[in-house]
Amino acid sequence: MAKISHLIDLNDFTPEQWHTIVSLAHEIMSAPMVYAGACRGKIMGTLFYEPSTRTQMSFQTAMLRLGGGIIGFDNPSTSSVAKGENLKDTTKIVSGYSDILVMRHPLEGASKAAALTADCPVINAGDGGHLHPTQTLTDLLTLREEKGTLEDLTVGFCGDLKNGRTVHSLLKALSCFKGNKFIFVSTPELKVPTYIKDYVSASGKTYEEYSTLEEVMPKLDVLYMTRIQRERFGSPEEYEKQKHVYCLDEKKMQLGKKELIVMHPLPRVDEIAIEVDDDPRAMYFKQANYGMYVRMALILCMIDYKLESKPLLNGTIVKDVCCTNPRCITHTEKYLPHSFRKAGDVLECEYCDERILI
Ligand code: NCD
Repeated sequence: MAKISHLIDLNDFTPEQWHTIVSLAHEIMSAPMVYAGACRGKIMGTLFYEPSTRTQMSFQTAMLRLGGGIIGFDNPSTSSVAKGENLKDTTKIVSGYSDILVMRHPLEGASKAAALTADCPVINAGDGGHLHPTQTLTDLLTLREEKGTLEDLTVGFCGDLKNGRTVHSLLKALSCFKGNKFIFVSTPELKVPTYIKDYVSASGKTYEEYSTLEEVMPKLDVLYMTRIQRERFGSPEEYEKQKHVYCLDEKKMQLGKKELIVMHPLPRVDEIAIEVDDDPRAMYFKQANYGMYVRMALILCMIDYKLESKPLLNGTIVKDVCCTNPRCITHTEKYLPHSFRKAGDVLECEYCDERILI
């Protein structure tokens, strides 16, 4: 595998490299003991500024199963972050103790910002409502194992498509494979962001938008359910209006194909009724288990990466322009250079991909 430094966006890797990781995960599943000592003497740092069960624990278990060690925090209030330490300093220190760093943060672009100063490879384990590339690797492995292909699939996405970072990363990835079609089911307020839709269209793929699950169920090969992301709403009232809109139950499952699979990055709130768990098409618990194997494969592929001298920011530094996304990391970490890609009249923030008209 070509040496690259960090995994911030899954598109930092080529589809061939995704295949390498997913195929290695498949091999690990069939003979885990072969890899039991593969990371002996190596340390993984996990900096989780936001709650996590699966991502954090599957990364930690993955490293432990490879024979390596783990350090880090799952609650920044127990670290010097509580004393006011900035992201730059925390990253600099912990990356100096570690061979690989895994970061989750509520602000968009945080992992990229961390990578600017890290002394070891950084893996983005979710940055606000932006991206979640390792969940996508999990999803690709699930599709490869359970559908046998990543191509020619009609994939439905339902729920909070605006704030669901797993949706954004998976759409970007599945757009790279031939014949895939996408069906979005959401309220008007929680639609897929324009920059992701543009990405899908630019790859030559099509998408349709609906407001109910019933009308789309018979068309789908895969249904990707997501929860409404309460923590990303501006006010409790806005969340109240959106919650409980979608619930997949056995009645709706009856409208689906026999070969349908239902995925969900989890945690579930109430968007899938418990009764669906017993349906053989419910794949979400198995999917979470695949996540551990894919992270073992990812760690194995990245652990010996040397940091490249290639700059992480390639755009134009525009001092007087601030990103208009209030959840962009540049607003709290003031020392970060304001770097934008220029596309005609539009500046695109290099941290969070927000588009600003100039
Ligand atoms: C997702 C996340 O954190 O974005 N969970 C996960 O990593 N498996 C989905 C979510 O929180 O809704």
